[in-house]
Amino acid sequence: MIALPQSWSLEGKVAIVTGAARGIGREIVRVLGERGALIVASDRREDVRALASDKVAILTGDVSDEASARAAVALASERFGGLDILVNNAGRSLNKPFLETTAEEWDAIAATNARGNFLHAREAVRAMVRRGGGGAIVTVASVASVVALDQTAAYGASKAAIAQLVKTIAIEHGRDGIRANAVGVGVVETDILEDIVEDSRATLASYGDAHALGRVAQPGEIAEIVAFLAAPAASFITGTLVMADGGYTAR
Ligand SMILES: NC(=O)c1ccc[n+]([C@@H]2O[C@H](COP(=O)([O-])OP(=O)(O)OC[C@H]3O[C@@H](n4cnc5c(N)ncnc54)[C@H](O)[C@@H]3O)[C@@H](O)[C@H]2O)c1
Repeated sequence: MIALPQSWSLEGKVAIVTGAARGIGREIVRVLGERGALIVASDRREDVRALASDKVAILTGDVSDEASARAAVALASERFGGLDILVNNAGRSLNKPFLETTAEEWDAIAATNARGNFLHAREAVRAMVRRGGGGAIVTVASVASVVALDQTAAYGASKAAIAQLVKTIAIEHGRDGIRANAVGVGVVETDILEDIVEDSRATLASYGDAHALGRVAQPGEIAEIVAFLAAPAASFITGTLVMADGGYTAR
């Protein structure tokens, strides 16, 4: 096996990964771990506990809860001595025609996808500024941050919000050595639509044709981009949305 360049290493770096129990988040924990990171893995699903090890601390709770964001940063400090990387990955989807979207659904999607993101980023940046060693925020956004997908008003608006949020963090905290970027993810074969369709994986796989590569992504392919953006190799990338969409938005 060819060794990765040192600039890709995350050896000894401390990371928080939200939405870590399954899908893209679980793969992010795996890849960051392989690169040497120490990780706080959080999720509202109890089965996130399966990831626990001497290098992975677990937190359960809802990302939209302010106490969860504080607890994640506190745990990173207690268990591993600080915080270098936040991966804001937790998210949920809603496929509903615009006119059928209720205020409650709008709020629920915004709570996880936008508010949760904001709270974790704010607590993480506070801790990074206090420590004075810089850091990296990586947000898992979507093609829906930049193009309209059918029946995704609440989801698309929330994903556009977080793509914008990283830009503000980048300009306000670049001089603290903090980089903030988002990944514009195309369709990935995970269970994200589990609550709304019968066979979420088959539904997602059917989107393959819409991508220039003629297929959807596997979660590990997104985790690789996240790990790159968190690493010194990406030291001059900040305030941007990096598309990892198999050419979905190239048309
Ligand atoms: N799968 C796709 O096609 C796709 C495309 C673009 C973007 N994304 C984004 O990627 C991220 C990961 O999605 P995925 O496909 O792995 O989905 P997934 O449903 O497999 O995993 C999401 C994880 O986040 C957790 N989570 C959701 N809401 C939470 C909350 N309020 N508090 C704590 N944990 C919460 C879930 O329990 C789950 O473990 C999401 O932000 C999603 O919007 C996914």
